[in-house]
Amino acid sequence: MDVISKLFLHEIEIDPTKLEFEPFYTDSQPVKSFDCGNKDLNDFLCLDEVREYEKELFGKTTLVYYKGNLVAYYTISNDQLRKEYVKSHHGFSKLSEYHLEGIPAITIGRLAVDTNWQNKGIGRVIIQRIAMICLDNSKYLGIRLLLVQAKEEAFNFYEKLGFKFVVETKRENKRYRAKGTRTMYFDIKSLDYLRT
Ligand SMILES: CC(C)(COP(=O)(O)OP(=O)(O)OC[C@H]1O[C@@H](n2cnc3c(N)ncnc32)[C@H](O)[C@@H]1OP(=O)(O)O)[C@@H](O)C(=O)NCCC(=O)NCCS
Repeated sequence: MDVISKLFLHEIEIDPTKLEFEPFYTDSQPVKSFDCGNKDLNDFLCLDEVREYEKELFGKTTLVYYKGNLVAYYTISNDQLRKEYVKSHHGFSKLSEYHLEGIPAITIGRLAVDTNWQNKGIGRVIIQRIAMICLDNSKYLGIRLLLVQAKEEAFNFYEKLGFKFVVETKRENKRYRAKGTRTMYFDIKSLDYLRT
C-alpha cells in the first residue's frame, strides 16, 4: 500500500523489518503489562477472552514485538459485509447482478499499539501486513474487504490508510449511536496490482 508513506505526517520511526509477529496460542501466558490507553483492549489480553477466542476459532490474535518489547497486538477473523453498506460506492455498482447477501471480508476485531510505541508507524505496518494476508489468502478463498469497527479517535488513522466509511444505513447509524464506532472498509481489489 504505497499510500501509507505519503499521507502520514510522521515517518515510520521504527525499523519495520525488526517487528516480530507471534501467534497467541491457547496455552500462551496472559499478558498483563500492555497498555494502549483503552481498558477493554488491554483487558482482552489478560482475561480469558483471548484464550476463548482462540479455542472457539472466533478470532486469531497476533502479538507484535519490537526488540523484545510487546508493542502491539491485533485480532482478525472472517466476516462479511451486507451489500447495502457499499452498493452505491464506486466499484460496487454491479453488486445487484450477483447472488450475494454479503461481501466476503476479514475483520480487524482489535488493533492496539502500546502508548509508549504509538505514533511511530507501527499501526500502519500492521495494517499493511493484514492487507497482505488478505491478498495472499484471496488466492484460496473469497476476500474482498478488510473491515474495522473504528473508534472515533481512530477514524483519521484509518482514512489515511485508504479505508472508507460505509453508507450510513439505519442499522449503521443505530450502531454508531449505541457504540460510537463506524464501520470502515478497505477494498482488497485495489491491491490487484501487487498480485503475482
Ligand atoms: C490507533 C492506533 C492503532 C494507531 O497506531 P499507531 O502505531 O499509533 O499509528 P501510526 O504511528 O502508524 O500512525 C499514527 C498516525 O495516525 C494518526 N492517528 C489517528 N488516530 C490516532 C490515535 N487514536 N492515536 C494515535 N494516532 C492516531 C496520528 O495523527 C498519526 O498521523 P500523522 O503521522 O499524520 O500525525 C494506536 O494509536 C492505538 O492503539 N490507539 C489506542 C487503541 C485504538 O484506538 N485502537 C483502534 C481501535 S479501532
